[in-house]
Amino acid sequence: MKTIQITPSISQLRRQLTQWREEGANIALVPTMGALHEGHISLVRQANTVAQRVVVSIFVNPTQFAPHEDFAAYPRTFKADCDKLAGTGVVDLVFAPPPEEVYPPGFATSLTVGGPALGLESDFRPHFFGGVATVVAKLLLAVMPDIAIFGEKDFQQLLVVRQMATDLGLPTDIIGAAIVREPNGLALSSRNVYLTPGERLVAVQLNRILADSCKQIRAGAPIVEIETRSAVTLREAGFDIVDYVAVRDAGTLAPIEQLSKPARILAAAKIGRTRLIDNMPV
Ligand code: PAJ
Repeated sequence: MKTIQITPSISQLRRQLTQWREEGANIALVPTMGALHEGHISLVRQANTVAQRVVVSIFVNPTQFAPHEDFAAYPRTFKADCDKLAGTGVVDLVFAPPPEEVYPPGFATSLTVGGPALGLESDFRPHFFGGVATVVAKLLLAVMPDIAIFGEKDFQQLLVVRQMATDLGLPTDIIGAAIVREPNGLALSSRNVYLTPGERLVAVQLNRILADSCKQIRAGAPIVEIETRSAVTLREAGFDIVDYVAVRDAGTLAPIEQLSKPARILAAAKIGRTRLIDNMPV
C-alpha cells in the first residue's frame, strides 16, 4: 500500500521524479481530467503492472473544449478522485496543476496533429486534438515517464497521442488499455453522469448496435452500407444526432472498403445534451 503525494507544481513534481529515477524506478503516467471511474482505475492498475512508480494527472484541460462545450459543467470531484486513487494502493503521486501552471500568462504555443487526427472527431470537434496533443505533450515533458497509458475508449485520441509522441521523439511508450463497460455494455465515461434514466436506456444501445454492425460486416455485408444503416438504427433507437459511424483501418484510421486488415468501428452520437463515443474491433 503506497501513500499518495498530491502536487500542483511542476518543479515539485520534477524533484520527486528525479529522486525516484535515482533509486532506479521506472515511471508510468496516467493522464486524466478527473471525475474518475473504474475505466480510469483500470488504467492505473495497468500502470502498476508495468512500472514501479505510478503518477496520475488530474487536469480539466480548457484548450480541448470549444466555447460552446461543457468545460464549465465538466464534473469536478477532486476529493473523491484522490480517495479512489488512494484506495487502489498503487498510486504514488497525483499531479493536479492549476490552469496557470500548465498555461502561464503569455502561453502561445499549440500543436497540430495530422494522420490519425484527421476526420471523425476532428470533423465535429475541430479544436479537440490540438488541445489534447498540446496538453499531453506538456504532461509528458513534465513527467518524462517511461510509459503512459491511454484508454481505447478514446481510440482516435490514443492514436493521435502515439503519433505526436513518435513525431516529437518523446521517450515514452504509449500503451492502450481496453474499454471498461457497465454490465449492460455502456462504456464508462465521466460524461455518463449527464444522462437521465430515460437517456441511459438509449445510451446502452450504442454498444449493442455497433456489436451487431461488426457481426454483419464479418458476415460479408458491404462496409459503406453498414455504416449508413447503423446510423439510421441509432436514430431509431432514440439518439438525437449521429455524428458518425465509421469503419476504419485500426492502425491509421484511414477509410477502408473491405476487411483486409484489422479494422475498428467508431461512433459518436448525441442524446439530449450528452455526446457519447464508443468503438470496438470489427
Ligand atoms: P479522460 O476523459 O478523463 O480520460 C482519461 C483516460 O481514461 C483516457 O485515456 C481515456 O481513454 C481513459 N478512459 C476513459 N473512459 C474509459 C473506459 N471506460 N475504459 C477505459 N479507459 C477509459 O481523455 C482525457 O481525459 C483527456 O483528453 C486527456 C488525455 C487527459 C487530456 O486532457
